[in-house]
Amino acid sequence: MNIARKGPGTGARPPRARLHSSAPRQSLNGTWRFRLSRGLAVAPEDGWNTGDAAWTEGDDWTGITVPAHWVLEGHGKPAYTNTRFPFPIDPPNPPDENPIGDYRLTFDAGATFTDGAVLRFDGIESAAEVWLNGELLGETRGSRLTHEFDVTGRLRENGNLLAVRVAQFSDASYLEDQDMWWMPGIFRDVELVATPAGGIWDVFTVTDYEAADGTGTVDLFVEASSAVRLRIPELDVDLDATDGGVIGVGVVEPWSAENPRLYTATLEAENETVTLELGFRRIEVRDSVLLVNGEPIQFRGVNRHEHDPLRGRVASPERMRQDLLLMKQHNVNAVRTSHYPPHPDLLALTDELGLYVVLECDLETHGFEEIGWRLNPSADPQWRDAYLDRMQRTVHRDKNHASVVIWSLGNEAGTGTNLEAMAAWTRAFDPSRLIHYEGDWSSTYVDVYSRMYASFEEVRSIGEEIASPAPFDATAAQLHRRSLPFMQCEYAHAMGNGPGGLQEYQELFDQYPRLAGGFVWEWIEHGLGSDGVYSYGGDFGEDVHDSNFVIDGLVGPDREVRPGLVALAHWYSPARITVLDDAVRIENRYAFADLGGLTFTWTAISAQDGELDSGELKTGPVAAGEVVVVPFPDELAALELPEIVTVEARLAHDTAWAGAGHVVGRGERVWLNQAEEPVEAVAPADDSFDAVSLRLRSLGGLRLDGPEVGIWRAPTDNDRYPGWDERDLPPYAERWHVAGLDRTRTRVVSSAWGEDALRVTTRTAPAGRDFSVDGEFVWRRVADKALTVEVTLTPIGTWPVEWARLGLDFVIDAAPRELSWLGRGPGPSYPDLAAGGFTGRHTVAAGELYTPHVKPQESGARAGVREASVVTDGGTLRVTVLSADTPDGSVAVTVSPWSRKVLSTTAHHHELEADGRTHLSVDLFQSGVGTATCGPGVLPRYRLAARPGRVTLLLEEV
Ligand code: GAL
Repeated sequence: MNIARKGPGTGARPPRARLHSSAPRQSLNGTWRFRLSRGLAVAPEDGWNTGDAAWTEGDDWTGITVPAHWVLEGHGKPAYTNTRFPFPIDPPNPPDENPIGDYRLTFDAGATFTDGAVLRFDGIESAAEVWLNGELLGETRGSRLTHEFDVTGRLRENGNLLAVRVAQFSDASYLEDQDMWWMPGIFRDVELVATPAGGIWDVFTVTDYEAADGTGTVDLFVEASSAVRLRIPELDVDLDATDGGVIGVGVVEPWSAENPRLYTATLEAENETVTLELGFRRIEVRDSVLLVNGEPIQFRGVNRHEHDPLRGRVASPERMRQDLLLMKQHNVNAVRTSHYPPHPDLLALTDELGLYVVLECDLETHGFEEIGWRLNPSADPQWRDAYLDRMQRTVHRDKNHASVVIWSLGNEAGTGTNLEAMAAWTRAFDPSRLIHYEGDWSSTYVDVYSRMYASFEEVRSIGEEIASPAPFDATAAQLHRRSLPFMQCEYAHAMGNGPGGLQEYQELFDQYPRLAGGFVWEWIEHGLGSDGVYSYGGDFGEDVHDSNFVIDGLVGPDREVRPGLVALAHWYSPARITVLDDAVRIENRYAFADLGGLTFTWTAISAQDGELDSGELKTGPVAAGEVVVVPFPDELAALELPEIVTVEARLAHDTAWAGAGHVVGRGERVWLNQAEEPVEAVAPADDSFDAVSLRLRSLGGLRLDGPEVGIWRAPTDNDRYPGWDERDLPPYAERWHVAGLDRTRTRVVSSAWGEDALRVTTRTAPAGRDFSVDGEFVWRRVADKALTVEVTLTPIGTWPVEWARLGLDFVIDAAPRELSWLGRGPGPSYPDLAAGGFTGRHTVAAGELYTPHVKPQESGARAGVREASVVTDGGTLRVTVLSADTPDGSVAVTVSPWSRKVLSTTAHHHELEADGRTHLSVDLFQSGVGTATCGPGVLPRYRLAARPGRVTLLLEEV
């Protein structure tokens, strides 16, 4: 086995489309025999693959599931690196320590396949040599690419031996350095597929839609060994298609992500019938704007890797459907298959459910960046055939899917002529789709200008650029790039608590027609494990790894919806709703559909009495892109002072991805007033306060301690990285630590018991520092178990860094049970991450107080809060905001079973140990979260420079 050469695989038939065909197939998935060796040099040549009947297996063989990664089946371990190769950069040589898996399967095929057949492998990582009955069929390269070997005349009816030797690392590994787990094995389906005489080998349907007259065409190419008939019953097409060519089908309903209309077609040859789902649509670029069916569209996209926490990149129909349904339910309309072709069945689902697909080739050479891109295969002509082979396998397999609108050459493979060659081949073969590649910013051979994690300013300037004339000395390449629409193939890095900044990007996408939207990085957190116990890089003893950088997603490893996805659904909503004083403004953000598919309902809420009334809001017809302002209906206008008016857009009918009533958009207006201050007040009893700290120790029967002034948070992933806009500074987590936000101490400066109040002044400062926050606390007893505290906080000295928050921390001596509040919810919110949903009364149980981030960090703040009841095993504390000098008079409340210290020092969620107490923070201000793990940090307007604050709280045991 030669796994140190620069070429593509050998021996396979030319790539072709994945067809839904009547030709018999036989799955060879199941339990195979397996043996692992440490390296190629010691992999036994003992006749295991010869088909010799006398050969018997030794005790180094076991059973293994196919498809599976052997490292998840008890043989060796997974390993995670982001960009670094886990072996020396010495292309095309893999390391000597290179696990080699030998697979054997004996099977009967019967008479079905004697006429002609191929043996199909949909994915083997990273290189394999394949023998059937002792005969070498060839080698595979391209872990996520299909290889079909002709077994006609080689297959027996009974007792076939299929033997596959798989190398974990090979020359191919240099082209497959995606940011993900290294997980070898036969991890996609293996099948025997009949290729009957009088059958169809390949089909290419290039569909088109002419918006001007509503007609469709299909340009057909068929490779068959008999005459072929095309039928599209719904369009009355029934004709001889043996020679292919352009076929007009008359007026059709076009395909789009909004209305994924498909027409079933059949191609009937003598001995085989192929069924196709045709979608008529056109994707094009005009005046730097991306158009589908003649209308500008925006990608409201996500990047999707294939991942299952137990099975790795082994995809199942259930997971695929689950992912796509969740995307559609959260207003996502596009998916980039980062960074390789997905399981082939995914595309039938994107066609059916309606998602634009950027289909990416299995290519990334990112590790060469570490050595300044020296030796990069992209620029080495000896690798050219390998590059072309990868692209051809990518395009051929999925070329019949309407949802695929862009071919992507790969990801982060630097620059070089091999990429240009891929683009040239693709353009010649399939001019109906656009070509994407981000890694070469010159963009000379692509059809979209693409970048990842570009800052807000840069995205704006790219949007604006085309409004002014090109510079007189612009080169041809620059002029070409100006003619292209712009997309962010990756933005808003959804790692840990985040991503912040979705709103600002969306506003830019909405403002400039050249900006075709983007794809959030990324969909799934790649934790390995189950039931909340997930591993990341380093957990398998890897000496080279990138820790929890593999845990970045809008959904958790088991598809738990993270707050970032809730926020994204809001910004990606097709209906933007703004509740005005006496009317509702609704913007239709569909590219094609009117608002007839949605119903709008209003709800009027009073803080004390709950829902007052609700009803339907009639919008009348609103075409795509239009805005209407609908006056409040009479019933709503007649209501006296509702404190909250919410308007929701819901699906009017069942769809393939959600039932009628599913909420796709929401807007609200809040007129809440401050709660009334109690009038009667006396000084509180001194036995409720700690003699040293003068903090409250009891309230009625509640044992507690607080408040302490709090300005730190348990660093989020984003706090632990410097934003791309300030890479010369250490990350916030470090700056906070240096300044000492995580180790403040409080001294009582003065205290005085008056008749009506206890007055305490304090100084809170980091150990070893002289800047502080001075506090004044005025305590009054207003009822038996009720106190008010009037708090004034003032920063003193020069704080060298912004704060994480400014708030009051309490610890209740009993475990949390539940939190009820009046404010935004039910999810958490941070200033630049509006995942909170809507304003009202919400209740969450103890287990929903926080987000179970695989790596613990700050989470769970509920914002816009006016009143909160913290239910614990030891009683309930109700906190009411009587006044606050915050923009809307509300505070943020965070309740956690863990202290911030514990959160910041524990590696995995499942290792967190609760201390049986309730950690409560009432924050006047919070810093945003940003996306510094990849991209811009917290925008200046969401940062929290040292500042004063005032709040008056009513604390009651209830
Ligand atoms: C990008 C890359 C992704 C991922 C991301 C960070 O540069 O394309 O694959 O690594 O950074 O999570």
